Amino acid sequence: ENFMNYKTSVLRFPKDVATAAALIRLGECVALKTETVYGLAADATNEDAIGRVFEAKGRPADNPLIVHIESVDDMSHWAKDIPDIAYTLADVFWPGPLSLLLKKQHWVSDKVTGGHDTIVLRVPASENFMSLIRATKKGLAAPSANKYKFISPTCAEHVLRSLDGRIAAVVDGGQSDVGIESTILDITTPIPTIVRPGPIDDLMIEQALSEPVKYADNLGVTVPGSAKQHYQPNTPVQLLSTEALSKMQLRADEGVISHTADSVNVKSKNCNVLRLPKDPAKYSAHFYSSLYQLDMQNLRCIYLEETPSDNLWLAINNRIGRVVAR
Ligand code: TXA
Ligand code: MG
Repeated sequence: ENFMNYKTSVLRFPKDVATAAALIRLGECVALKTETVYGLAADATNEDAIGRVFEAKGRPADNPLIVHIESVDDMSHWAKDIPDIAYTLADVFWPGPLSLLLKKQHWVSDKVTGGHDTIVLRVPASENFMSLIRATKKGLAAPSANKYKFISPTCAEHVLRSLDGRIAAVVDGGQSDVGIESTILDITTPIPTIVRPGPIDDLMIEQALSEPVKYADNLGVTVPGSAKQHYQPNTPVQLLSTEALSKMQLRADEGVISHTADSVNVKSKNCNVLRLPKDPAKYSAHFYSSLYQLDMQNLRCIYLEETPSDNLWLAINNRIGRVVAR
């Protein structure tokens, strides 16, 4: 399974969009920026192309993919029995980091949906990704462009770290600015249910719909293939309270990801301390890239400062729980 068949090309946006589109039409996969994280895009109507996505990532076949579409007008091509709220949500949040879980049309390949009778759709906001959808006139299936269970990528360099030699190309479009994956909302249920928390939270959705929204009881575990251990660097990560962290004498081969001024002992200033913003949205934007950065340094351990437990941190805390899971 350790194949290295490709000389992965690094393409540029916008000048190489036609090249990327040609690769997609040939059934290859191309990694490129969305506003959330980099996605590994493939023609969602080509089963061989979908097979390549799973192979490149080393992802189990029962773990379904999100299909990225050009606009709300394409929704009924892919999904059926669409409730009215889908259109309200699309109106408010698309293009953007909200993915809608709907009933799939019969013709949609089981390879895309992992054998489920549902499909997840979104219209991404990034011009990089949108230009490829427009150039190919295809729905593009795209999981995050990382090896299965590894850290999600927010720049082309991260993609190459996981997938160099395993995919045809990556389009370098700079940093993804949101930094964590889209919110997934199941609207096949009587009460719309967030099955993966993300940048768009329950209050924002409730405000758009004027009706209650809930989080899935078993957040994340209800989403097929959403493993307990996920988003993990090779270096072990340990979660510590601000207080515990501030009392530690850190060694040179230990790293820290903190977001408060008082978390790190002054005597420890030689170690690899990354300070992220205190604001949760800004923290998200740098979270995965901070893990990549410290993971590159061959440390024995990365300490992650505990974040607040309130609603605004829910999506981040959901990721952190999986980063530190053993
Ligand atoms: O922000 C994002 O959503 C990024 C960018 C590239 O758009 N994509 C992303 O894809 O995070 P991925 O494959 O890493 O995560 C997709 C999640 C998976 O946990 C999968 O189980 C869930 O969506 N999913 C996809 N189709 C589904 C379906 N039919 N039923 C239930 N869950 C589904
Ligand atoms: Mg992923």
